[in-house]
Amino acid sequence: MLLEFRKLHTQTPLKCPPSCEDSPTHEMTHLLGGAAGRWWKYLCQPTIATLAAVTIVLTLFLSSVFVNQQAAMTSVMEKLTSPLKDCGNCAVTRTQCTKGGELLPKGIIVGTSDLQMRTLAVEDEDMVMKITPKNLLAMAVGINQKEGVDQIVQKVLDFNFTIMLFHYDGITDQWNDLPWYNQSIHIVALHQTKWWYAKRFMHPDIVEQYNYIFLWDEDLGVKNFNASRYVQIMEEDGMEISQPALDPASMDIHHGITLRRPKNRSHKRMYKARGLTLCTEESNGPPCTGWVEVMAPVFSRAAWRCTWHMIQNDLVHGWGLDFKIGYCSQGIRSEKVGVIDDEYVLHKGIPSLGGPHNNRVRRRSGAEMKAFLQRWRNAVKADPDWIDPYKTSNESSRGYHTR
Ligand SMILES: *[C@@H]1O[C@H](CO)[C@@H](O)[C@H](O)[C@H]1NC(C)=O
Ligand SMILES: *[C@@H]1O[C@H](CO)[C@@H](O)[C@H](O)[C@H]1NC(C)=O
Ligand SMILES: *[C@@H]1O[C@H](CO)[C@@H](O)[C@H](O)[C@H]1NC(C)=O
Ligand SMILES: *[C@@H]1O[C@H](CO)[C@@H](O)[C@H](O)[C@H]1NC(C)=O
Ligand SMILES: *[C@@H]1O[C@H](CO)[C@@H](O)[C@H](O)[C@H]1NC(C)=O
Repeated sequence: MLLEFRKLHTQTPLKCPPSCEDSPTHEMTHLLGGAAGRWWKYLCQPTIATLAAVTIVLTLFLSSVFVNQQAAMTSVMEKLTSPLKDCGNCAVTRTQCTKGGELLPKGIIVGTSDLQMRTLAVEDEDMVMKITPKNLLAMAVGINQKEGVDQIVQKVLDFNFTIMLFHYDGITDQWNDLPWYNQSIHIVALHQTKWWYAKRFMHPDIVEQYNYIFLWDEDLGVKNFNASRYVQIMEEDGMEISQPALDPASMDIHHGITLRRPKNRSHKRMYKARGLTLCTEESNGPPCTGWVEVMAPVFSRAAWRCTWHMIQNDLVHGWGLDFKIGYCSQGIRSEKVGVIDDEYVLHKGIPSLGGPHNNRVRRRSGAEMKAFLQRWRNAVKADPDWIDPYKTSNESSRGYHTR
């Protein structure tokens, strides 16, 4: 009896299918035309077994429409089936494929979670899901910035945001006179940065419910910011990653592209005719286009899922991420990443975690940026299958973003 159980127990674990989150790649869309989306959806239905997926691909392969594209199809097939062979890198944990859940009946597996608070009494789950906020505002905060933080929260409160505060100074009790305090999530870990917290407490499977994720610094003036309109513009202008433009009165404007253009509603590139780095219509990467800074980024769900994976556990200041963030833009970065001018903020430039050790912090930040970019280069070298969509950078930007 026990032996039988052992045999059963050592059966090969379930293999993860490709992510159903991921839409088909551009290459596949191109190859399969309009059929791609439909097939993809079909493949992603939870009831379809992985075996069926392979069969469908085979049928597709044999169908006369694609006879002329045998070579191309082979590569598509490889794409669809390879995750079945090897699930080591499977980053997806939807209900039907959860690493660690292989021993359970599928129907019991809950692969994602949420930040919704529950009442202790009876509640209607459908109702809870209905009132669950669709956006998340996450900030690392200290009590010294209480007033400014409250102003930021006030701007999003009517718009059904979940508020998640990371208290890097350990003080939470002095916030509890604010009316939104009890409905918010408070996390304490002393002297940790926004990116440290985000990597640990904002796993994509946990924040899955949100359409947009605001990961902001605490020292932003929001007098001219309307969250509802911001999200509306981000949607209408087709952005997956954005930031509010910076008021010219801001401290430390490091990058021209973030500066507010009063005549525009939003912009996605800047032009620069002089200097070492030139920005023209042809430039296809930072700092000319495809760029937001790490101080006030806003991510779509899909962009955050990607960005989370890019954050390094030990590089806590997030410097250097902005160079590569465009790779998470779910499309061409010069089109999907932008700066919103109509709703803009003032960067007050208050060193928060830095405190008296500001120089040491600055040194570490710079070193982290170098380390991150070096890791990126190493990772690219070590992964010949990965294709850099922005490899051809035009002369004008002098390879700035590949440095
Ligand atoms: C916010 O949620 C409440 C229900 O909790 C709903 O009545 C209201 O319309 C929502 N507001 C917005 C702007 O979505
Ligand atoms: C939050 O909840 C605590 C405990 O129930 C209560 O004492 C406090 O008054 C509440 N604060 C607000 C602002 O509602
Ligand atoms: C914010 O923008 C929305 C439109 O998206 C508008 O209805 C609302 O009145 C604005 N709020 C303020 C305070 O201006
Ligand atoms: C920004 O505004 C200027 C002047 O109104 C206009 O010429 C330009 O096309 C706008 N750019 C964008 C990206 O909207
Ligand atoms: C580089 O610039 C040329 C024109 O100068 C343009 O045709 C080409 O599309 C650009 N390449 C990229 C990758 O942006």
